[in-house]
Amino acid sequence: MIILITGTRTGVGKALAEHFLDQGHQVVGCSRKPAALDRPGYRHHDIDLTDQRAVKGMFREIRREFGHLDALVNNAGTSNMNHFMMTPEKVARDIFDLNFFAVLNCCREGAKLLQKSPEGSSAILNVSTVAVPWALDGQLVYSASKAAVEQLTRVMSKELSGFGIRVNGLGLPPVRTVLTRTLPEGMVDSLIERQAIKRMCTMADIVGPVEFLISQRSGFVTGETLFLGGVN
Ligand SMILES: NC(=O)c1ccc[n+]([C@@H]2O[C@H](COP(=O)([O-])OP(=O)(O)OC[C@H]3O[C@@H](n4cnc5c(N)ncnc54)[C@H](OP(=O)(O)O)[C@@H]3O)[C@@H](O)[C@H]2O)c1
Repeated sequence: MIILITGTRTGVGKALAEHFLDQGHQVVGCSRKPAALDRPGYRHHDIDLTDQRAVKGMFREIRREFGHLDALVNNAGTSNMNHFMMTPEKVARDIFDLNFFAVLNCCREGAKLLQKSPEGSSAILNVSTVAVPWALDGQLVYSASKAAVEQLTRVMSKELSGFGIRVNGLGLPPVRTVLTRTLPEGMVDSLIERQAIKRMCTMADIVGPVEFLISQRSGFVTGETLFLGGVN
């Protein structure tokens, strides 16, 4: 498969890229800073996903090099922990630019290449968070941007099904990455206490569900966001 994963320099995106390279797939990744991976089968684009022209340029290069895509994983995201009254509008807009508008733009450009997948059916996977169903205080803008992505997932699953493209989401509980490094330990512990499975989510817990949701094994699943760890 040819898989585009956004935000592959660190964290979840890097772990996913390494996993799919280990499986023998071709992986295209991107981030603002240069690649942290240098492996056969891996191509990196140094771009800011909030720059729509740069996003279009990346998809143009993918089309030139591969002609199609089999899967798009919209992983890159950012958060901000703050009471909404202490969150300036510029901060809120910046979060939406990456977490929502960049996903929308990647889906629009990606769909043109995903519909050419020789696999017959291709997939988009959008990364979300337990901050949405739990409506976590201090995460209003972050969770609102991801709630918008979950709605995008539902609507787009209908709009793209005629093109043979499935659209699903994966809702993550806390995972140890740069994004969560600044959270107070007590806060992470209290979130884990709310999960049905009371331990920290690891990269190994994530790769299986991602593999399932972008492969033909979930060929009749679309419009769903699957939450890990048991969040109800
Ligand atoms: N970690 C958690 O506990 C957790 C929980 C729930 C959901 N999530 C979600 O999981 C996803 C991955 O999070 P993570 O924890 O792995 O985060 P991370 O370690 O901070 O990684 C984010 C990646 O995105 C890239 N990136 C950030 N802004 C970008 C931009 N404007 N343009 C291009 N690339 C950009 C970063 O590279 P550069 O800095 O080089 O651009 C980095 O590679 C996010 O959508 C997040 O909301 C994470």
